[in-house]
Amino acid sequence: MDLITTTEAMRTASRSAKAAGQRVGFVPTMGALHEGHLSLVRAAKAQCDVVAASIFVNPTQFGPNEDFSKYPRAFERDRELLEKEGVNVVFAPPVEEIYPPGAVTFVTVEGLSVKLCGKSRPGHFRGVTTVVSKLFNIVEPDVAFFGQKDAAQVAIIRRMVRDLNIPVEIRVCPIVRETNGLAMSSRNAYLDPQQRKAALVLYRSLREVQRTFELGERNAHNLVQIGRKIVAEESTVRLDYFEIVHLDTLDPLENIEGPALVAVAAFVGTTRLIDNFIIFT
Ligand code: PAJ
Repeated sequence: MDLITTTEAMRTASRSAKAAGQRVGFVPTMGALHEGHLSLVRAAKAQCDVVAASIFVNPTQFGPNEDFSKYPRAFERDRELLEKEGVNVVFAPPVEEIYPPGAVTFVTVEGLSVKLCGKSRPGHFRGVTTVVSKLFNIVEPDVAFFGQKDAAQVAIIRRMVRDLNIPVEIRVCPIVRETNGLAMSSRNAYLDPQQRKAALVLYRSLREVQRTFELGERNAHNLVQIGRKIVAEESTVRLDYFEIVHLDTLDPLENIEGPALVAVAAFVGTTRLIDNFIIFT
């Protein structure tokens, strides 16, 4: 497995693989890897000839009062995990390689980027789309793999790729959960045992909404109320949003007639967690 830290070396590696007729798969991450990340790597390994994974804690997607400086960093462990999975290239650039001094250009997916997490994390999706488009320009992958865990991120990146004619195919992998249902997240490392238990309310609220939908409820407002009520039962958890939206536009739905995204975000202590599921009609 090669460790690459510069744009030039990454592009050379990718171009030489492609020149040899190999299909390049790419898994962008911020490190602190868990089974969710590894599921993307495995999908990439299964579907591509060469797999590159990036580890880059992207400063522009964190707000001024967010956890950029304390975000978990475990480079050596991550590197070992990726090596075990048979990843060919780890791209781990320093911040200056991605944001040279004087960089003032950003990519914004208008409208979509202020929905769901974008509402309570101003600038977050602008940071995500900027770094992902940079990584696409550097790695030049044929296929890139993302997790359904970050459902709004998926909708926004898909739209960016379409709007900017970026020649990459986006594949989305299912949410990986712990056996108790908690969606895996690098931020789960912040939770103490009590908070871990409280955090299960997110999954519980989604399950209850799913159950009610399966019993025939189609009114999104009623379903959202059920989800919010369940989250409110956990006094140590502060709801950020509970919404049912269109999968592509992220606009709130009134009635569920086609595929819909049920998404929740909440603070457990100071840790912000998200979870979601897709209703297929
Ligand atoms: P990060 O949070 O490290 O996640 C990297 C990828 O792993 C994302 O596509 C995310 O959706 C996926 N992922 C995380 N937890 C998952 C889970 N439990 N099940 C399935 N997939 C999961 O998302 C980012 O980094 C950044 O925004 C990034 C795209 C790298 C840009 O900086």
